[in-house]
Amino acid sequence: MHAVETVTVELGAASYEVLIGSNVLANPDYWRRHLDANGVLLVSNNTVAPLYLQRLTELLEQLRIPYAECVLPDGEQYKTPATWQQIITQLLKLPANRNSAVIALGGGVIGDMAGFAAACYMRGIRVIQVPTTLLAQVDASVGGKTGVNLPAGKNLLGAFHQPALVLADIDTLRTLGKREYRAGIAEVIKYGLIMDADFFAWLEANQGAVLAQQRETVQYMVATSVRHKAAVVSADDREQGQRALLNFGHTFGHALETLTEYSHWLHGEAVAIGMLMACAYGERTGITPAGTAARLARLLAGMQFDLSVPAGLRADDIVAAMRIDKKASSAGLNLILLQKIGQATISSGHQSAELRQSFPTQLLFKDQHDNYQ
Ligand code: NAD
Ligand code: GLY
Repeated sequence: MHAVETVTVELGAASYEVLIGSNVLANPDYWRRHLDANGVLLVSNNTVAPLYLQRLTELLEQLRIPYAECVLPDGEQYKTPATWQQIITQLLKLPANRNSAVIALGGGVIGDMAGFAAACYMRGIRVIQVPTTLLAQVDASVGGKTGVNLPAGKNLLGAFHQPALVLADIDTLRTLGKREYRAGIAEVIKYGLIMDADFFAWLEANQGAVLAQQRETVQYMVATSVRHKAAVVSADDREQGQRALLNFGHTFGHALETLTEYSHWLHGEAVAIGMLMACAYGERTGITPAGTAARLARLLAGMQFDLSVPAGLRADDIVAAMRIDKKASSAGLNLILLQKIGQATISSGHQSAELRQSFPTQLLFKDQHDNYQ
């Protein structure tokens, strides 16, 4: 049995632990003190439930805790108020009370939706996050952002609701598709870029082991990422300041996702290109040291990201899409830029014309990203 790492998100009375390790999912020792006999609703989807739900139902039976299952259809398109309502209906049927708990077993979609149901039911009951994608383990399950999408945009309906516990079992990543795993690596690289130059260098030196999902490597990578996220959330849980640094690359990435109607890239893939654009733009404005984008492009290429952008996408359209992102104001766009690898800053007042002029257009055309290798 490998050692389990514990990271604490320090939020006074709302502090909680994130446990990261192999085979933690069904270990009763981790669960016992967080669950009592008041009932549990297990929320998952029809991809993850056949793989891991039984382990949790056996555990709950062993602990003699009444439970019900709520297995939802898989996909971001189901992250809606209607699906959220199904979770609430199951909570009512259980019936759940103020001392009951929700267990969210799955990726970020399930975590966000089940977390939001727990945030709202009887004005808030416990949620335990059991993230099963790399993205959810290093990002979505930690920090208490919950919610669902509306036709007008992603995550427009939601609440901050911190979990009571996060159990990140790295063994579950073995069944994850390669593409999904790689998309999560983008968020891992982000922590290196915005707050830990040594971690960035470690990722450069360990690309092979990361891609091969070598167990100690994955555990170190997830635990280091969670430590960084926990530090940011502990200092700024409501995103009044420093938490915004976690959006590095996201304004560019969201524009790419919006323009391709969420059909071309997974979120992490768009963030990877978005981070590269943010580095290239930062270099043009003099905030980011020359050579940063090239170094990031080498790491992303080494991690097997495809950095090309469909030929039809134009800089003008990307800039226009960035302006409707929620980080824009009349004084210009707020962007997270790097002062160096390992240090990010919130930079305001970026105008469309400036962005367009200094846009790293060489990133936009397939074959030309060789410039960055
Ligand atoms: P996801 O939840 O859709 O999971 C990706 C796919 O992998 C799904 O098909 C899922 O069923 C499958 N899957 C999950 N675990 C698996 C496993 N162990 N084995 C096999 N298949 C598995 O996507 P995601 O990337 O985890 O999360 C994206 C969502 O997270 C978005 O809705 C985004 O808005 C949200 N998000 C939230 C936060 C936050 O702070 N709350 C942060 C980042 C992203
Ligand atoms: N994923 C960004 C945040 O949690 O703030």
